[in-house]
Formats: sequence, C-alpha cells, structure tokens
Amino acid sequence: MEAVINPPRDPNTLSNYNAFRTMRTTVNFDILFDKQQLKGNVIHQLRSLTNAGTREIVLDSSFVNIHDVKVDGKKNKWELLPRMEPYGSALKIPLDEAVALGKNVDVEISLETTEKCTALQWLTPAQTSTQKHPYMFTQCQAIHARSIFPCQDTPDVKAVFDFNISSPLPVIASGVPVRGSALASEKSDNKLYQFRQGVPIPAYLFAVASGDIAEAPIGPRSRVATSPDKLEECKWELEADTEKFMQAIDKLIFPYIWGEYNVLILPPSFPYGGMENPIFTFATPSLISRDRQNVDVIAHELAHSWSGNLVTNASWEHFWLNEGWTTYLERRILAAVHGEPYRHFSAIIGWKALTESVERYGNDHEFTKLIIDLKGKDPDDAFSSIPYEKGFIFLFHLENLLGKDRFDRFIPHYFTKYKGLSLDSYEFKTSIIDFFSSDSEAHAQLTSLDWDTWFYSPGLPPKPAFDTSLVDVVYDLAQKWRTTAESGFTPASTDIKGLDANQLVVFLEQVLLFEKPLTAEQSLLMGDVYGLAKSENAEVSNLYFQVGLKAGDRSVIEPTATLLASIGRMKYVRPLYRALEKLDRNVAIEIFEKNRDFYHPICRGLVKKDLFGDKSG
Ligand code: BES
Ligand code: ZN
Repeated sequence: MEAVINPPRDPNTLSNYNAFRTMRTTVNFDILFDKQQLKGNVIHQLRSLTNAGTREIVLDSSFVNIHDVKVDGKKNKWELLPRMEPYGSALKIPLDEAVALGKNVDVEISLETTEKCTALQWLTPAQTSTQKHPYMFTQCQAIHARSIFPCQDTPDVKAVFDFNISSPLPVIASGVPVRGSALASEKSDNKLYQFRQGVPIPAYLFAVASGDIAEAPIGPRSRVATSPDKLEECKWELEADTEKFMQAIDKLIFPYIWGEYNVLILPPSFPYGGMENPIFTFATPSLISRDRQNVDVIAHELAHSWSGNLVTNASWEHFWLNEGWTTYLERRILAAVHGEPYRHFSAIIGWKALTESVERYGNDHEFTKLIIDLKGKDPDDAFSSIPYEKGFIFLFHLENLLGKDRFDRFIPHYFTKYKGLSLDSYEFKTSIIDFFSSDSEAHAQLTSLDWDTWFYSPGLPPKPAFDTSLVDVVYDLAQKWRTTAESGFTPASTDIKGLDANQLVVFLEQVLLFEKPLTAEQSLLMGDVYGLAKSENAEVSNLYFQVGLKAGDRSVIEPTATLLASIGRMKYVRPLYRALEKLDRNVAIEIFEKNRDFYHPICRGLVKKDLFGDKSG
C-alpha cells in the first residue's frame, strides 16, 4: 500500500510532521555564557503516523551547529538541506527501515547554537541592572524555536518536554521545577536545573532564561521572578491583581490546569510586552510603572493559558484563534474585576489600534484578513493588531448575536473540546454551529452568518456599538485642545484629575490624530501642566514624546533618547523612531546607532528596516 500523507496544514514548517509526530522532547543544555552558546543535545521521541512508512525524518532547523545524529541510540546519517528563507535549512535524517504505524523512534541530535540564532538574546553584565552577572533568555514565537534546536517547529504539533539545563546562575523554564533539582554538577560551578512540562505544548512555547534572578510570592499560586534589586517593586506591582484575574477566568472557563502561574520580569531589551510561556509568562520591565496600570498585559498572558497554550492555532494563518480569543478573554477578566464599562474602554482602544493597522497595510491587504495566506512568508512580518482586534470584534459579534448567556455556555465547551489540541478556523466554525444544533434560534443565526466575509474579506469589520462612558471625558478634553485657538482654553492640572493612565493614553492618541498638530509651545505647556514628560508609565510618556516630536518641540528629543536607551519594547521603540525620523532623520539614526547593541535582534532588525528599508544584519 502506498503511504497517504496529506499536505501539512502549516505552510511555515519544512518538517514532515504528517509522517511523524513528536510525542516527547528532552532538552539537555549547558548554558555557556562566555561563548554565548547553548550546547548539548535534544532527544525527540517521534511516532510514525503512516503504515507504509516514510523512510526519512525532516525537521526544521535554522543556524544551528549540528555535531551528530543518533536514531534509537545508533549513529545515523544526516544532511542539512539548502537554506530556504525564511524557514531555515531542514535537517534530513534518512532511516534504514520504515517505522510501522504507531511505533516510536528516538532521534538524538547533539548541537550548539550559533551567533546567528534568532531566538536568543545574551546580555553582558554591563547590560543588566545590577551589572554583576550575564543574562540570557529565549523568545521562540513564532518560528524561532528551530534556531535553538532542530524540531517540528509548528503549532500543529504538541509534545511533553523535559528540561535539563545546567548554568552557573538560576534558571527559569516553561515547565514545573523537578523536586530536588538545582543540584551541583560535577563539572565546573554549574548547577543542573530540571523542569518538566507534562501538558503537551508546541515548540514555540519552549522557554528558558538564566541570570541573577530572585523570586517573591504575588499570590497563592504565583511568584514574580526578576533581578534582586527590582524584586520589591515588581511584587508590589503584581500582587494586587494576579490572583483576582486567575479567579475571574477560572470561573469563566474552567480552573487553571498548569499548576503555578508565574511572571518573569526581564531586562529592558525584552522586545514584547509579554510572552505567554507556560508556568512563567515573560514580561517587559515597562509593566512596572509603580501605578499598577499596565497589569492588563498580565490578564492577557494569563488568558493564553487557555487560548493558545491549551487550545492552539494549527498554523500562524489562524493566529486570530490565539490572539483574538485571548484579547476577548483578557477583556472578560477586566470586566469581571473593574466592571463592564472598562471592557468597552479597552475595546475602544483596540478599535483604534485596528483602524491604524488597516490604514498602514491598506484596505485590501492580505494581512488585514482574519485568515491570512502565509505560504512562503515570515509570520513575524504579518504581526500586527489585526488578529488581536479583528478576532476580538468577531467573537464580540458572536456574543452579541447569540446573547451573552448562550455564548458563555459555549466558552467552556470549546476549551474542553480542543484542550491539548490545535485547530483551524474551519473547526472553530463547525464546533460552534454543532454546539447549538439543538437550539434552533441560535443555530439559525449561526448558519446564516456570513462566515466567508468574516474570514476572508480584508479591511475593517463593521464597528460595534461601545459603551463610551470612560472615554467621553477624555474626548471632551482633547476637543478643548483641538479648538484652543478659538475657545481660549487655558489648561490646568485639574483637567486630568481622576483620569487613570489608560485614559491619558486615549487622550494623547486623540491629540496625535489632530489634523493640525499642536504648536511646540502648546505641546510644552501640555507636558508641564499635566506632568506628562515625567510620567514613570512609558505607555504615557512615549505617547507624549510622540506628540512633542510631531509638534516640532526639540526639547523632547533628549528625554525620548533616554527612553529609547532604557527600554527595548517594540511597541514604544518603533513609533518613536518613526516620529524622530520625521522631525530629524540624522538624530534618529544617531540615537539608533548608539543603542543598536542594546536592542533584541528582532527589534534591531525591524527598526533598521523602518529607518533604512533594509532587513539584513
Ligand atoms: N504572544 C504574544 C507576543 C508575540 C506574538 C510574540 C507573536 C511573538 C510573535 C503576546 O501574548 C502578546 O500579545 N503580547 C502583547 C501584549 C498584549 C497585552 C497585547 C505585547 O507584547 O504587546
Ligand atoms: Zn497574546
């Protein structure tokens, strides 16, 4: 019989994962800070999915230095295929004999990472806050795990993980610590840190960090980990909300299954707001703003413990199933904790981000669709607010269409049905229609829904009606600034009394939208009277600097440069360089050149592309 192997539904992997499936992955690495390398081996237990048997195993790999490959303990032939951008060089392992359906084969690959690894950032002691010890961390989403070790780097495959990591400094990973680990090892000053992730996870959720890290409790099931000198402030920032968020979402879906939910606050070059690595969310230090106003990010990463980490998009073409669902759940958590108007407030901010992304890409662009075509493309290039916010709007539409009570019964059903699995948008559609098959009204609503338009039409979806109670005051204030010439409005610090940081964000976004920008004097006045330039909340200060740069107020260049040298979160860095470039391209380039080594490779690459239209290096 000929083997029937369907083409994989993930176009962003070179692995033959429809012939073999990873069941278990064991990662044995020494962290070599002096060489800035991970060195060791990875063992995959692969299960044959075909009867007639494919006589080769193909794994994703990118810029990894491979020493040798063993199959079931015996040295085996292997070959790296020519590089295929942006997916890397596949590792081909020919087998002596076919593996029968359902039988396992162990593949052990010894290797070290290289300088070109896109998933790792290595920091020298001078780049850390205590300046005493080096630091390293991983960031594998979307397709960077393959640059740490060869694997089936697709969200359509999930495996249990064992981590055996030796390091001279404390280690954190996306697994549960094995009791009695952190043993002194025979070699050198290193200790062996062991973790186990017993819930099957895709390779993009593999995560490790190591450095001078201390921990403190922030709730009954939660700890924060960070540099010892920052521990108290991180604890204060997160301890009021983390458990509240957990209880809200436990109630909405079903109880958290991963055991602990912890947060690692990384050094400032971490390029994202947060990354939902299981057991340990990785997060930017810009969350620590001393006002507890950026904890929405924690609600978001926590929600990924259901949407994304337990129920996973089968490919990055269906990324809205991860991020749209997570944004929806994040806002349900916020509603449970702060009230329904706050959910709408957050959705209004999201709608603005959505319109901006659609404008930037253009109304007809492929990446403005809910389901996108990523054949031959790099998922990082498609990253924007669209899967988050169009995905949210779609789920919010379903909630309104069916009624909240009905939709709330579907939520736990969906996460139960697909837990431990990966799915695409078509399965989502069938599962919700099937769930309501005996409810004729809901069923009729769902079968007459124009699914194809939601899935495939580019541009903005219809705008829902939002409760504007929390933004109205802010829009009124912005309106006063817009018409200040005619109305003779004199700003006073009382204008912003009672507004929280997120309301100030909405205010500044409105100011940035003025068809006639503020004058430099007005911008200066705004910063002074409202204390914006001095805000410790980078969400606020970065927007104020954008207002100032747009107004031509050169006095904000210096504090902008200070911010750009202290935080590498792309959400702030990229817009600030764009705004600086508009005011004074030479200054923008000069500041970038000063800070390039500070930024994460992903951030450095994207800013470079923004400034010079160049992707290389
Ligand atoms: N999973 C994402 C981050 C990500 C996406 C990393 C794609 C790499 C590729 C994470 O959950 C996220 O969405 N973070 C947001 C914060 C959130 C509150 C919208 C961020 O980093 O800004
Ligand atoms: Zn997310």
